[in-house]
Amino acid sequence: KENKLWGGRFEESVTDAVERFSESISFDKALYKQDIMGSKAHATMLAEKGLITISDRDRILDGLDDIKRRIEAGEFVWRTDREDVHMNIEAALTDMIGEPAKKLHTARSRNDQVVTDLRLWCRDAIDDILTHLKRLQVALVNLALKNEGLIVPGYTHLQRAQPVLLQHLLLSYVEQLERDAGRFADCKDRLNFCPLGACALAGTGLPIDRFMTSEALGFIAPLRNSIDAVSDRDFVLEFLSANSITAIHLSRLGEEWVLWASEEFGFLIPNDSVSTGSSIMPQKKNPDPMELVRGKSARVVGDLVTLLVLCKGLPQAYNRDLQEDKEPLFDSCKTIKGMLEVTTEFAQNISFNHERIKRALPAGHLDATTLADYLGVPFRTSHDIAGRSVAFCLSKNCQLSDLSLSELMRIDPVFEEDVYEFVGVDNSVKKFCSYGSTGSECVSEQLMFWVSKLGIN
Ligand code: ARG
Repeated sequence: KENKLWGGRFEESVTDAVERFSESISFDKALYKQDIMGSKAHATMLAEKGLITISDRDRILDGLDDIKRRIEAGEFVWRTDREDVHMNIEAALTDMIGEPAKKLHTARSRNDQVVTDLRLWCRDAIDDILTHLKRLQVALVNLALKNEGLIVPGYTHLQRAQPVLLQHLLLSYVEQLERDAGRFADCKDRLNFCPLGACALAGTGLPIDRFMTSEALGFIAPLRNSIDAVSDRDFVLEFLSANSITAIHLSRLGEEWVLWASEEFGFLIPNDSVSTGSSIMPQKKNPDPMELVRGKSARVVGDLVTLLVLCKGLPQAYNRDLQEDKEPLFDSCKTIKGMLEVTTEFAQNISFNHERIKRALPAGHLDATTLADYLGVPFRTSHDIAGRSVAFCLSKNCQLSDLSLSELMRIDPVFEEDVYEFVGVDNSVKKFCSYGSTGSECVSEQLMFWVSKLGIN
């Protein structure tokens, strides 16, 4: 067996079970790029400060570049007995260049190294998620552009409530995604500080320059407190919280579209390219991708909960428990990216059944609130009059717009001929005109805002 990098004070090697149990190479090799980037910045700074020679630095930098090339070519052998990505790379560098490699870990610990890698990884992952979020927003806005003027029932309590433009409904999701994007951007700004040089927990007596490495790695500044730098994973918690909120938003869209694709609603028709069949029922065409979007939100929330429980009650500073932060982080990011990607494709591959929706609109007295607004008497009174009008319709099995003026006037003399401009869903939608309402002018304004903000066309 090879001697561990930390093996000096040990007389026995670890058991196989302990080695298998404590390794993280099987998943933290995903951090190789960040680890090499961090090591290069560190070696450059060490040389700058006279802690290693220029020729040592050059051999380290070349060696690290070569390791990166080998990893990307699939030629690098990851070794479980070398525990994690940090020691795999350092030991491989030593195999390659010998003595200079042994100087790389000067004024550094794996504790500051791993959390530096992780912050760099999160930074890139957030950029990636932001790109996917924007693509979905664009797909939703395009869907809105394709369905101008289509009125759909708006629901509260899943009961018919008021008529809304489909565009208005679609843009409500675009708004939610915009706040999600804001959360990711905030998270990135807050995590963009450099732990490198905090070493194990106490900093170092060696004359390093943390500002230099921080700048080289594109961080805003070094973290102020070395104990804090190696202790906390709040930035991962924040990231996974943002992922979770986005996942919850997507699960709601997923639920709506699954419902709308049902025979009972029949409002939405997915293309075959985003549907799947049944192995037993020949007639089935299921909206599986959106069901899975709804379902996978559970994983994303689960990953957040795992990390919350992981961090709970940990004493300062680094504890090995923290090694368990990576799998939930990676899983959450992979899952949310897949969810965003598939929801985007779904949005690009559905149509709305205008005929069916139009036929469904008369049911449910969606225009009752507009009628109440029209009456020009105190709202509680008009609510009551409109309510009695609905009750009368229910007894006659008809719509508010079907009632004659004399029938209406028998309910209450306040009705006049112009009432017919306020009933029926088309009339009703037109009346919604305050800022942010569903009336077509307000919705056009929203649409113009998004078309320009997202740079569509
Ligand atoms: N693989 C470890 C992790 O992911 C690296 C840090 C280990 N540090 C230590 N002193 N054992 O957290």
